[in-house]
Amino acid sequence: MLFVQEDNRPEDPMTASLRPVRALPSLALAVAATWLAAPALAADELTLYTTREPGLIQPLISAFTAQTKIDVKTVFVKDGLLERVRAEGARSPADVLMTVDIGNLLDLVDGGVTQPVKSAALESAIPANLRGTDGQWFSLSLRARVLYADKGSKLASFRYEDLASPQYKGKVCIRAGQHPYNTALVASMIAHDGETKTEQWLRSVKGNLARKATGGDRDVARDILGGICDIGLANSYYVGQMKGSKEGSDGRKWGDAIKVIRPVFAKTGGTHVNISGAAVAKNAPNKANAVKLIEFLVSEPAQVLYAQANYEYPVRKGVALDPIIASSIGELKVDPLPLTEIAKHRKQASALVDKVGFDQ
Ligand SMILES: [Fe+2]
Repeated sequence: MLFVQEDNRPEDPMTASLRPVRALPSLALAVAATWLAAPALAADELTLYTTREPGLIQPLISAFTAQTKIDVKTVFVKDGLLERVRAEGARSPADVLMTVDIGNLLDLVDGGVTQPVKSAALESAIPANLRGTDGQWFSLSLRARVLYADKGSKLASFRYEDLASPQYKGKVCIRAGQHPYNTALVASMIAHDGETKTEQWLRSVKGNLARKATGGDRDVARDILGGICDIGLANSYYVGQMKGSKEGSDGRKWGDAIKVIRPVFAKTGGTHVNISGAAVAKNAPNKANAVKLIEFLVSEPAQVLYAQANYEYPVRKGVALDPIIASSIGELKVDPLPLTEIAKHRKQASALVDKVGFDQ
């Protein structure tokens, strides 16, 4: 089902700039000014299609409009972003497409609804492994797949490979293997170690499960608190959400029950990340403004908002982490493997999850 919430901004910044034109005494001058202003009207707006939560996006958009005077029409598309833009075709009003997960972004690229962008600002702000080589997509923020462990655990380091170790028999909790967060991790494992080794690993992890692979990431912390499991993999921002929630709430109890370790791949010593990202739409009526918005989103002030609003890792170097993320997880050493390389193995990863009966 398509859920669309149209967000028409109440205040049009152009109204203010047109006011002096209206006050002009000469009709001829007013007509000339209006004629001059017309192209400016079209140039000072853009349309954003996003699958991200309105509450997270709105502060970023407001900051962008305040800085650039470019009015943003935000369309929240919960599901079916690719299908919608495709159906709209050449008449699509979308300028920027924004979503989460490398798989979803590459579906947009492969679906032919994006266009390449050349921007020195984007190339310097975003590491090469976290954007398309052809400028078809860009990461805006990162989330790491980290290890939640009982807060009393003596564990100080962890490799993703360790999840298959016999010492964790019956002690591992994780959500469904077919969830994009996990298929991306399995795809990453395939890119590093090949399919045969990954299959063995996945089979052993399945054998270590304390319960069916189901539920959400926060349920890993819940089940550690409940004594069902000792460790599990989940996303980094949930740590901030749980530990940052109200004293006495369930989320806070779950968050307080865990300690967090940044796992690494044995081969690279890097941690697996997924992304939120954006692309310029193929038929963008306001391409220049679309590029400006993406450039703004990786600027320092916007990256600070990403860190604060949803406990995400900034994609730009040198931007402060949210204090809870800084103290409970810390700075990341991101796995250097290009995300496009990981994404190539998505289908293989999904087939492996089925083959070992991970979610059965
Ligand atoms: Fe999530």
